[in-house]
Amino acid sequence: MHPWIADRTKTFDSSGIRRVFDLAAKLKDPINLSIGQPDFDVPEAIKEASIEAIRSGRNAYSPTQGIAPLRDAILAEVREKYPDQERDVFISSGTSGGLVLSMLSMVNPGDEVIFLDPYFVMYPALVRLAGGVPVMVDSYPDFRLDPDKIAAAITPQTKMILVNSPANPTGVTADQADLKAVAEIAAQHNVALLSDEIYSRFFYEGEFYSPAADNPDTIVIDGFSKSHAMTGWRVGYVHGPPEVIATMLKIQQFSFVCAPQPAQWGALRATEVSMQANVDEYRRKRDFLVGELSPHYELTSPGGAFYLFPKAPGTAGGAAFVEHAISQGLLIIPGNIFSRADSHFRISFAASDETLRRGADMLIRLAQESAR
Ligand SMILES: Cc1ncc(COP(=O)(O)O)c(C=O)c1O
Repeated sequence: MHPWIADRTKTFDSSGIRRVFDLAAKLKDPINLSIGQPDFDVPEAIKEASIEAIRSGRNAYSPTQGIAPLRDAILAEVREKYPDQERDVFISSGTSGGLVLSMLSMVNPGDEVIFLDPYFVMYPALVRLAGGVPVMVDSYPDFRLDPDKIAAAITPQTKMILVNSPANPTGVTADQADLKAVAEIAAQHNVALLSDEIYSRFFYEGEFYSPAADNPDTIVIDGFSKSHAMTGWRVGYVHGPPEVIATMLKIQQFSFVCAPQPAQWGALRATEVSMQANVDEYRRKRDFLVGELSPHYELTSPGGAFYLFPKAPGTAGGAAFVEHAISQGLLIIPGNIFSRADSHFRISFAASDETLRRGADMLIRLAQESAR
């Protein structure tokens, strides 16, 4: 290790993901079911709004909290959803920016942060970066947010419960009753409840539900990356108790400064663009893939996002299965990147029907091979 590297960076590593990228780079024309972003492009109206912003000279820093019309649009939506709550909002540099600022604002060294395993890759890394201790609650085999398990994980050191529904990498959505119970547990123990709602628009059964409805102190992080395919634009937002938001802004001022201004004007237009047709398409893709794979794999049908998290067939584990799949030209992600367990793998169905068809055929063949 180079002598200049700070100790805090040694508490997590990204080698697992790099290994997948390295393997992927060697493939010529892979069947790619590994992508964690929509396969549709940013709607034209949004592009136009950003191009217009650039052309008309809106290229400087924006206020730290974001451009006023975007903040107002989001705040209006938030006030409509939570009319009795006092919530402030700011525009972050993607949902990731909101996650970083949440950890830096609320997690003291030694504080414990509870979240489900499997988890989004950033969660343990960011908790550790802030000096905190990730407390991962095993949610196999159905990936349910079980309030009893969350309650059992609470200790005097618990500072935060982090929920993510619909979830990456499982696509599983938490039941309303379970979210409500977790919201109450957080309130009872006076711990922060952070809700990563980046997949809230990709919700296939019923209506999306946020624990903020039951716990007014919930800090909600959302953004435009997935909903409008704007992952490279870096626009997210956070809403929650004004004092917490003010603290995050203090750090944003001295770190990210602001989300890119032209992208914020695009995001403002995005608040007026319905993506329902794309969501309906993804529901259809989910139904196709679940229908194809269910007879061959142990899997939980996802209620949201665009991921499936099946169990690898045979006994070799998720990483070995994925390595074999990649050698056959199918790009998927080993579950142990998102988990302490090495039993599953992640498929993204944010892909063309043709790619999904080829991927399903290959996965069925691999399952049949392993059963022999
Ligand atoms: C659960 C979850 N949270 C946050 C993010 C980060 O999104 P953004 O592009 O808005 O930073 C992702 C991206 O994959 C995600 O899956």
